[in-house]
Amino acid sequence: MRRKEQIYEGKAKKVFATDDPNLVIVDYKDDATAFNGAKKGTIAGKGAINNQMSNHLFRLLEQQGVETHFVEQLSERETLVRRVSIVPLEVIVRNIAAGSFAKRYGVEEGMVFAAPTIEFSYKNDALGDPLLNSYHALALGLANAGEIERIKTMALRINEVMKRYFDGMGVTLVDFKLEFGRTADGKIVLADEISPDTCRLWDKATGEKLDKDRFRRDLGGVEQAYQEIMRRVMEK
Ligand code: TMP
Ligand code: ASP
Repeated sequence: MRRKEQIYEGKAKKVFATDDPNLVIVDYKDDATAFNGAKKGTIAGKGAINNQMSNHLFRLLEQQGVETHFVEQLSERETLVRRVSIVPLEVIVRNIAAGSFAKRYGVEEGMVFAAPTIEFSYKNDALGDPLLNSYHALALGLANAGEIERIKTMALRINEVMKRYFDGMGVTLVDFKLEFGRTADGKIVLADEISPDTCRLWDKATGEKLDKDRFRRDLGGVEQAYQEIMRRVMEK
């Protein structure tokens, strides 16, 4: 599939048109940002790792009946995906308290929940991606009631599949962020990426962080953590 003009550039990826109006090419960058772009840096090799790891997980999810935008990996950094319009919601699933949840509700990181939680943020950089609930999302017309129900059901199913998968490689899936898109025929599918940029992954034996928190919190060993999680995913 030939790459045509660039149609979008985000913080971590570029998107290109193709000859087929229903397909686009995603190109993953090594650029890393945190805190709504306030912190900027580069994680060497991240684009290639996130692309391949995300594709690996999307294939696994497809096998488990979760519909995604994934079509075909084209190169280390490039993937052909279905063209969707992104629902402007960041869908966060949590199994264990960490990050903004721990801070907002004044609990220790590491508190294990009896059942997973879901929260939404409004995907809007100018507003700093504010937290919102389903009623807010409906009021703002970000999605309809049926779409919100499907997104919640898919998010919990994705959590079950991924939790089991990471557990099998000695990793605890703490939390993660998903984005969904609408296809040309109006169907909601999983889109964007699932990678160490968008998940919290803790080594089960040592508690070591194997994700972007190493960059966000200046913990060092960022590249090594991405390589380690990639190694475990690819070995499985
Ligand atoms: P949080 O605890 O900072 O709200 O993050 C929850 C999860 O969502 C964590 O796995 C990191 C991921 N995340 C993103 O992928 N993009 C973002 O912009 C933010 C804030 C979090
Ligand atoms: N989306 C955040 C940013 O733009 C990154 C993050 O914390 O994952 O800077």
